[in-house]
Amino acid sequence: MGSKFDFSSLSSRVNQLPETNIVEVAKYGWGRQGLIPLWFGEGDVPTPSFISDACHDAMIQGDTFYTDQNGITELREELLKYNKRTFNVDLNQERITVTNSGMMAISIVMQALLNPGDEVVVIGPVWPNIYSAISINRGIATHASISLEDNAWNLNLRDVFAAVSPKTKAIFLNSPGNPTGWIMPEEDQKELLKFCREKNIWIVSDEVYHSLVFDRSVANSILSFAAEQDKVISVNSFSKSWLMTGWRLGWIAHPIGMAETFAKLIQISTSGVPTFIQKAGITALAKGDEVVSDLRKRCKVGRDIVFDYLEQWPRVQCMRPNGAFYAFFSVDGMEDSLEFCKKLIDRCNVGLAPGSAFGPGGEGFLRLCFASTPDKLSEAMQALGKEIGRR
Ligand SMILES: Cc1ncc(COP(=O)(O)O)c(C=O)c1O
Repeated sequence: MGSKFDFSSLSSRVNQLPETNIVEVAKYGWGRQGLIPLWFGEGDVPTPSFISDACHDAMIQGDTFYTDQNGITELREELLKYNKRTFNVDLNQERITVTNSGMMAISIVMQALLNPGDEVVVIGPVWPNIYSAISINRGIATHASISLEDNAWNLNLRDVFAAVSPKTKAIFLNSPGNPTGWIMPEEDQKELLKFCREKNIWIVSDEVYHSLVFDRSVANSILSFAAEQDKVISVNSFSKSWLMTGWRLGWIAHPIGMAETFAKLIQISTSGVPTFIQKAGITALAKGDEVVSDLRKRCKVGRDIVFDYLEQWPRVQCMRPNGAFYAFFSVDGMEDSLEFCKKLIDRCNVGLAPGSAFGPGGEGFLRLCFASTPDKLSEAMQALGKEIGRR
């Protein structure tokens, strides 16, 4: 009945936000009988009940009021302990802000850092929301690419340095990386930090996959080398490590003095993370080590199932990653990954994410999330094999 909605009356920044290609594929395939969805970045195991119970208990006990903008003391204390035992870094409460998810953390970090026209060098291919978080805050993303050479993902730091201009405010890195699984070596983290100190540039380090590593106990954090005054911000999340994607709980480790800035930004957005969710976070940190190690084992099994197929397929170039839970592989002859993903839905009934969603350097690739059961992954790979398993 009504006339078409007048989008032109909205902010041009909002109108320019792209719908990600991942969503477009998911919309295309949604609801198809028997489809195996491996397009999003999450597994299919719900949050363990001991974590949910902690939330429920807190609600029943009346933890239902407005809360501290930077997070309740008990959770921030638990996060200090976690950071110490995981990364061997000594933070203090003034350097931790609890957020409604890793995504919200990235949003408020960009709000805090960017003036119109400021540039952020994004090391990619990377999760598309990073670009949107920059552009909605009137920033401009520039790029440095990790590339797949001789079956290994590599970043040449010189490319990062070359992408820096007088307008560069920050460098964004995500290690272990979505979608590539690339892990930035420690020496490169140190060199990057040295460079950023000299140039007075921020480092925003997205470490939400820090625990999802297969060849070591944890991914190296840039926090390990940063002093409390350094312009280094680490973004983290409960989503991936503790099977809590739907809870929307994350945290930021930031320089001393920034807590008040984030408190202001949180005040005018969510006004804080519900206390009962934070209580679940405390339980996850204090009692959830086994959840993390089980997930890691499960993902390693999933990774090996997927790569045992991919590595046999002559059209495919890939690297068995040691971090995160994605296979990001190129397919020879594929020109348009979005259309190709739709074709794979029609012909194989498997949902993948198109590489074009992940910014420059992504086209030509497909992403598959292997945080799934062995049966489902084997079924998916057999189906995909019929389409991309041979020349
Ligand atoms: C690289 C990266 N950063 C941040 C996030 C945000 O995670 P969440 O908002 O669920 O904490 C994701 C989620 O997929 C991600 O892949």
